[in-house]
Amino acid sequence: MGKDVIIACDFDSAEKTLEFLDKFEGKKPFVKIGMELFYAAGPSIVSKIKERGHKIFLDLKLHDIPNTVKKAMCVLSRLGVDMCNVHAAGTGRMMQAAIEGLTREDGSRPLLIAVTQLTSTDEETMHKDLLIDEPLDKVVMHYAKNAADSGLDGVVCSPLEADKVHSICGGKFLTVTPGIRFAGGEVGDQKRVTTPAMAKELGSDYIVVGRPITAATDPVEAYERCVKDFIG
Ligand code: C5P
Repeated sequence: MGKDVIIACDFDSAEKTLEFLDKFEGKKPFVKIGMELFYAAGPSIVSKIKERGHKIFLDLKLHDIPNTVKKAMCVLSRLGVDMCNVHAAGTGRMMQAAIEGLTREDGSRPLLIAVTQLTSTDEETMHKDLLIDEPLDKVVMHYAKNAADSGLDGVVCSPLEADKVHSICGGKFLTVTPGIRFAGGEVGDQKRVTTPAMAKELGSDYIVVGRPITAATDPVEAYERCVKDFIG
């Protein structure tokens, strides 16, 4: 898979999501299904969106004992998603178990990426609540390296970290980057934001864009602007 724009479909029902995707007519954007939509609409939302011809990133961020994650991944893999994720904090053993569970009988599997430290966790909170004394940047890069060594395909990170992740984990290791805003757009709860064009320059492989597209007056125009600025 090459560079792409992934739309975060953060809706609370199948109806709202399908109505939103109807606007795209012949186009088939890559879609991210997160916890809110998956828990509200159930696994059938995956097949409904897949039947329409979209690629799917199932963003459920698994984190449990290796055996539980392996079995859960086996179920998610059968849904036919293209990309899913785990928390790197679950350890290398858990990430390897996730890959085992995801791998289908024919050897194929969805891409598996890891969340390093959530972007909602700042350095002070990490020191205080998680008792991790190292600098945040060092922790993120260590988790990324651990994910790469465990056989994962990439990490979720900020576009501002993409270059460093590539230099530590290799150019083929994917960087999937949220926190995208158009210049002068609403920032909302995101802290460090980047434009699609800047994300391209910084070497992101995929940008994840939610509200700048879902809340736009013309979502299709906003999506196309992202594609033009990020992919060219
Ligand atoms: O609306 P917005 O563009 O901020 O949406 C970004 C999406 O990426 C949301 O679905 C959010 O949950 C997700 N995400 C994020 N930061 C992370 C991981 C996921 O913003 N570190």
